[in-house]
This record gives sequence, C-alpha cells and structure tokens, in this order.
Amino acid sequence: MEKPSKIAPAKGKLGVLLPGLGAVSTTFMAGVELVRKGKAQPVGSLTQMGTIRLGKRTDARSPLIKKFVPLAELKDLTFGGWDIFKDNAYQSAANAGVLNPQDLEKVKPFLSTIKPMKAAFDHDFVKMIDGPNIKKGKSKYELALKIKEDIANFRKTSRVSRMVTCWCGSTESFVKPEAVHSTPEKLVEAMKSDHPAIAPSMLYAWASITSGVPYANGAPNLSVDIPALQTLAHDHNVPICGKDFKTGQTLMKTILAPGFKARMLGLDGWFSTNILGNRDGEVLEDPGSFKTKEESKLSVLEYILQPKLYPQLYGKLFHKVRINYYPPRGDNKEGWDNIDIFGWLGYPMQIKVDFLCRDSILAAPIVLDLVLFLDLAQRAGMRGIQEWLSFYFKSPMTAPGLYPEHDLFIQSMKLKNTLRWMKGEELITHLGQEYYD
Ligand SMILES: NC(=O)c1ccc[n+]([C@@H]2O[C@H](COP(=O)([O-])OP(=O)(O)OC[C@H]3O[C@@H](n4cnc5c(N)ncnc54)[C@H](O)[C@@H]3O)[C@@H](O)[C@H]2O)c1
Repeated sequence: MEKPSKIAPAKGKLGVLLPGLGAVSTTFMAGVELVRKGKAQPVGSLTQMGTIRLGKRTDARSPLIKKFVPLAELKDLTFGGWDIFKDNAYQSAANAGVLNPQDLEKVKPFLSTIKPMKAAFDHDFVKMIDGPNIKKGKSKYELALKIKEDIANFRKTSRVSRMVTCWCGSTESFVKPEAVHSTPEKLVEAMKSDHPAIAPSMLYAWASITSGVPYANGAPNLSVDIPALQTLAHDHNVPICGKDFKTGQTLMKTILAPGFKARMLGLDGWFSTNILGNRDGEVLEDPGSFKTKEESKLSVLEYILQPKLYPQLYGKLFHKVRINYYPPRGDNKEGWDNIDIFGWLGYPMQIKVDFLCRDSILAAPIVLDLVLFLDLAQRAGMRGIQEWLSFYFKSPMTAPGLYPEHDLFIQSMKLKNTLRWMKGEELITHLGQEYYD
C-alpha cells in the first residue's frame, strides 16, 4: 500500500466498544480512569510511555510515540460493551478481583455507569458459562443486525466521532475456517441459516466492520481471522488485527526463544504449565475452548525456531502446553516453564522459569495500545490486516500464505518502522556504517 500522505487529526471523542466486560476489559477501563485522574502510571503501554528514535543515533531525536503520531488522548476515550451477565463494570471488576478494593473505590462512580448491552451468545461456543443478559433473534444474522443497532446507538448517545471494537469476550470453541467463511455473501447466508461454524465473535466483527469500526481480537478464536471479514474490512476501509493478546507465558517464550536461536543454542524440549483461577481459566476447562488456546500457544516456537532450517538444533523439540483451572489463584496466574537446551558439543542444560504474573495487568495496556493504534491506522487510510500490530498477539494475523513473525524484537522493530513510514521518516535498519565513514 502507498504511504499515507496525511493522517487525519484525532478530533472529538473515541468510543471503545468491548464485547466481554470481564477481567481484562474492566482492568483496562479502570486503569485508563486512574491514569486520567493522575492516580497511576500507564505502565506496559507503548503508546503512553514509549519513545521512538528518529534519524541517526547522533541526532538525539527520541520523541514520545504519542507526540510523534497523532493518537487519541486518554481524556477523549468513552467506553461501552456487551456481556452475558448484567453486572456493571464496577461489579464485574470487583468479581474479577484483579485490582485491590482501594483502587477500585477510586473509580467506582465511573465504572458503575458502564452497563453491558445484551450479548449475542451461543452456549455451544462457550460451554462453561451461561448468563441472563442475552439478545434474542430468529437467526444469527438478526443478532448481528442488533449489534449494528447497538453500535449506531452508542455513536449517537455518547457523541463519539470514531470508534474501535476490541473483543475481550471468553475464548470460544475451536472452529476451522471453512467455505462459509470464505466470502461476505457466504458469511451472510450462513448467518441467516444459523450455520454451526458461525461464532458470536464473528457477529460482533461483522457488525463492527460493516459499521466502519476497526476491530481487534484479543482471544484465540477465529473471529475476524476469516477471508470473508478480511474482504469486508478492505471494502469498508477498516483496519483489523488479532489474535490472542500476547501476555504471560507466551510473552516470555517470544522473548527467550529468539535469544536461544540468535546464539545457535539447541532445544530438546519446552514444557509449559499454568495454574489460574479466573473466569478465563474456568472457560478453558472445556476441551473445545482449550484446543483454541493450545493451537495459539503452540505455534510460536515453530515459527521462531524454524526447525526446517535448523534440524540439528530444533528438529526434535518436544513442546507441550498445559493450563490448569485452580480457583484459589484467581487472576494471579503462575506459569512454569522447563526448558531443556543444549550447547557446544550437545551438552545439555536446563532453564526454569517461574512467572508469577497477573494476566489482566499484562493485557490491559495491550487493549489500550490496540485501540489507539487501530484508530490511528484508520485515520491514516490503512485498512485490512494490520500486521505491524503482531507485537501484541500470540497468533498474529497475516496475509494469506505469509508466515507470521513471532519474535518480539522483530515485531517491535516492525511496529516502530511502520510509525516512521506513516510519518515519512527514514526507516531504521541498525546498519550504522555511516558512523565509521
Ligand atoms: N492476559 C490475559 O488476560 C489474556 C491474554 C490473552 C488472551 N486473553 C483472552 O481475553 C479474553 C478475556 O479474558 P478475561 O480474563 O477478561 O476473561 P473473563 O472471563 O474475565 O471475561 C470474558 C467475559 O466475556 C463474556 N462473554 C462471553 N461470551 C460473550 C459474548 N458472546 N458476548 C459478550 N460477552 C461475552 C463473559 O461473560 C465474561 O464476562 C479471553 O478470551 C482470554 O482468553 C486474555
């Protein structure tokens, strides 16, 4: 695509629409409000804290990213969402137990005003939960039209000039792309005939895209990752991205594995196990939802290590991922990794990682960055899959036939170079020969 000649300014309010008002969504919204009130720092958010180097190292030009590209300001964000439960965002955040009561109290009036719209839900896709706040409709198509109405109403009542949707709903059961997902026409037909391969998250994605609203998918289920919706995103000038926020264990994997490969250290095995006790963990008890997550988590090493190129180093790697639902831990997950590596002359070594992480604390700044960057992309005239946002995902979406980049450092370079390219700045190659001429 051509370089954007001009990026429209971030004028007016930006609506953030969240299907799923659970742990991640509420931690994100509460955090934005705490930051807006000057009571917390947006740690983990590249758009808020990150800088970008421009020109030569000797130029000493490293502005904040939010000063370099015209991002929406936090004060202009307005929130809405859907959930199968009727709890408002305060009640849901209290239930999720991520933030401590003192922090939640500071944003209680704000969160209490965010009440979920009725969800488009299908129990076949999320077996472990059920709730009362659900839309009724004769077909999936009718439900999708109702989501479109919700979006139009939200636009009107909250007087936003632009919107972005970010799926923060539960992980849906595994479905493979099939013929009904191939074209916009077939997708609509399938929605009308209640085809079993049409998941609720696809209805939200369809409604958003056909309303001109960018869509990010934070879960591993297909959602917007089907050709029909990618075609529509193109036709409606809508940027999209996914899948599955890169937090916790996979974040660690995509930090460590590129290092081993860069130094040509071999790997015999990588065993990852987790205990977590939030609602996400409960949903992942269902084998269908777990299979979706497992696919997403397993693929990263294969792509980073390229065993076909390095059969002696990675050809025999045994990679296993386990997730265990363990309620006492709540959102405070513990992820163990046992990594069997080998070095010079094949001598074995082991690395153990024990990451006591907080899932939603890691995910919340990702939601913020995706919302702001997707809005920027749309104002810059970019549409379809935004591969430069791979940085944030476990299973980045790519053009058909293109393998994804999983290495966090390549992803980071790609993201920053895209910002430079958008603004007509020189791309940075890190060659640096000019310093020695
Ligand atoms: N670090 C992380 O927390 C992390 C990382 C990667 C991906 N994710 C994904 O993000 C999603 C959200 O995670 P979470 O911890 O907030 O989970 P959560 O269970 O706390 O919240 C999900 C919410 O979605 C709602 N929901 C389910 N189906 C819905 C539908 N069709 N429409 C509207 N609402 C629906 C549920 O009722 C629930 O309140 C999950 O899919 C999870 O796998 C989270």
